[in-house]
Amino acid sequence: MGVFVAEPVLGTAVQRLVAAGCINAAEEAAELLGGAPDEHTLEAWLCRREQGEPLAWITSTVLFCGQPLYVAPGVYVPRVQTEELARRAAMLLPANGRAVDLCTGAGAIAAHLRRQIPTATVIGIDIDVRAAACARRNGVPTAVADVAEPLHGHEAVDLVTAIAPYVPTGELGLLPADVQRYEPRLALDGGADGLDLVRRVIAAASRLLRPGGWLLTEVGGDQDAALAPTLAATGFDHVTPWWDDDGDLRGIACCRVGSYR
Ligand SMILES: C[S@@+](CC[C@H](N)C(=O)[O-])C[C@H]1O[C@@H](n2cnc3c(N)ncnc32)[C@H](O)[C@@H]1O
Repeated sequence: MGVFVAEPVLGTAVQRLVAAGCINAAEEAAELLGGAPDEHTLEAWLCRREQGEPLAWITSTVLFCGQPLYVAPGVYVPRVQTEELARRAAMLLPANGRAVDLCTGAGAIAAHLRRQIPTATVIGIDIDVRAAACARRNGVPTAVADVAEPLHGHEAVDLVTAIAPYVPTGELGLLPADVQRYEPRLALDGGADGLDLVRRVIAAASRLLRPGGWLLTEVGGDQDAALAPTLAATGFDHVTPWWDDDGDLRGIACCRVGSYR
C-alpha cells in the first residue's frame, strides 16, 4: 500500500480524519496510507486514529530533528517544540564529551545528540520500563531509574538534558482531550506548580555535571522565574531562557558553577 495509493482511498481517509477532528488530516492520512502494509491494516489504523490514539503509536514512528524515531504505544510522543532544546544541547556537547538525558522517554534528545556528536558518550534515564526499551531501540543506552538515583561509577558529565513532566496538576484538564486520554500521566503531571520533578532534575544535574557543564530543561509559563531560587541554591548561573515564535517560554539553559561533588 505504501507504493500505490488510489486517490479515492486517500480522499476517503482524509474525510474520515477531518470528521474525527484531526487538524492535519491530509498529512496524517498520507502517512497512514504510506505505512499500512495492506487494506485491512489501513482500516484498523484509521479506526484507531479516529478514536484519537496518537499517530506515532499507530505507525510506531515520529520524525524528530528530521530523523525517524521509534515510538511504542504507551510512551510519550516527542514533540516538535523539543527539537530546539535538542539542537541547543548538541551545540554545548564537546566531541568526546559525556551527556545524560534524564526522563529520556523514547530517547529523542539523546538520539539526536548521538547523531550530531558520534564521538560523545550519551546515555538515557527513565523510570518507565516501556520508555527505556523504546530509547534503547533508538540506539540510546538507557537505564530504568528515578532521576535521583546515582549513576554507578560515573564521571562528571558535560551536559544534562531533561524534559521532565512540567504541567501543573490543576492544568492537566486544559491539555488536548486525546493527550489526556492516551498519553501517560507519569510523563505529564508535574505536581502542584508543575515543578516537582524539574526541581529534582536540577538537584540531580548539580551532582552529575562538572563545573562549567550545562543543564537544559524544558519549562513553560513563568516557570523560569519560579525556578530561579532553586537554580541559585544548587549552583547554577548564566540562566538563559528561550521562547518560541509566539513568545511562549520553552526552556532554560544554565551553567554549573563551583566544584564537582
Ligand atoms: C514529558 S516526557 C519526555 C520524554 C522525552 N524526553 C521526550 O522529549 O520525548 C517525561 C518522561 O519522564 C519520565 N519520568 C517521569 N518521572 C520520572 C522519574 N521520577 N525519574 C525518571 N523519569 C521519569 C516519564 O516516564 C517520561 O518518559
